Amino acid sequence: MLDLAPPLFVRAPAKINLTLDVLGKRADGYHELASVMQTIDLTDTVALWPAPEGEVTLDCDLPDLGGPDNLALRAALAIRAATGTTRGVHIELHKVIPMQGGLGGGSSDAATTLCALNAWWHLGLSDAQLLALAAELGSDVPFFIVGGTAHIAGRGELVTKLPDITPLWLVVAKPPVGVSTPAVFRALAPADYSPGTATAALEAHIRAGRLPNLNDATLHNALEDGVLRNYPAVATTRAALMVAGAPCVRMSGSGPTLYAPFTTLHAAAQVHQAAQAAGVQVWLTHTTAPRL
Ligand code: C5P
Repeated sequence: MLDLAPPLFVRAPAKINLTLDVLGKRADGYHELASVMQTIDLTDTVALWPAPEGEVTLDCDLPDLGGPDNLALRAALAIRAATGTTRGVHIELHKVIPMQGGLGGGSSDAATTLCALNAWWHLGLSDAQLLALAAELGSDVPFFIVGGTAHIAGRGELVTKLPDITPLWLVVAKPPVGVSTPAVFRALAPADYSPGTATAALEAHIRAGRLPNLNDATLHNALEDGVLRNYPAVATTRAALMVAGAPCVRMSGSGPTLYAPFTTLHAAAQVHQAAQAAGVQVWLTHTTAPRL
């Protein structure tokens, strides 16, 4: 029987880490994190199409991503297993968010698929149940169930919603290099660890409804120094953004993607144009509101 639900197209946003503190290494091999994460208006699209009972398939416009490891496909199988439904779906995934860039694209595709299928199939899972399913799929997936501005703890899966920050324009830049997340965590030096100072300070500003000065102290990423040391292409892209006029450039997550925040479109657009003219792969985008 073909499912009668009409097709549903949903946008899956990328994220940036406004702060990322690494508190220490855990016994399970993961690192204990404290971070303020923020969704941005750079989006993949997840399309859900009716399919015969029992059939779950995925077609991605990047063929390399169309295999059984795809997190959106795994999310669909996970929500079916958790609820016992046997309904079918054909998922189309249009990728825009750069892959393995520290922007959480795959995680967002998975969270968006969970939320969209929960609604599309009328499964009635609570937010807490969706968050638990999300945590099994990856450290960053639960954040994307919530979206907007949030405080992140644990290995990344403990999400506390924060008030929305004052919207920011962003120039996002992808250096022409791939980094390995496990290698970036392994390269951490003792000096890179902190008790979470930058995250706590930014969280206090956000809870008070203030936007702090956006500079290298308020927007901290403990993983950045190691990546800049080990991947010269990231340092080159960072320098190009600064030459283009960005006052503050920060790495997102384990990189290599960089972002520069702005309070006016005028300033962001100038840097975007200058960086593009210098041959950097850049997007002009902005922060977005939460899903929940
Ligand atoms: O959970 P996820 O699959 O995204 O993590 C990828 C890898 O990144 C982990 O296997 C681990 O090496 C590293 N990692 C970490 N601490 C975290 C998150 C990720 O060491 N909090």
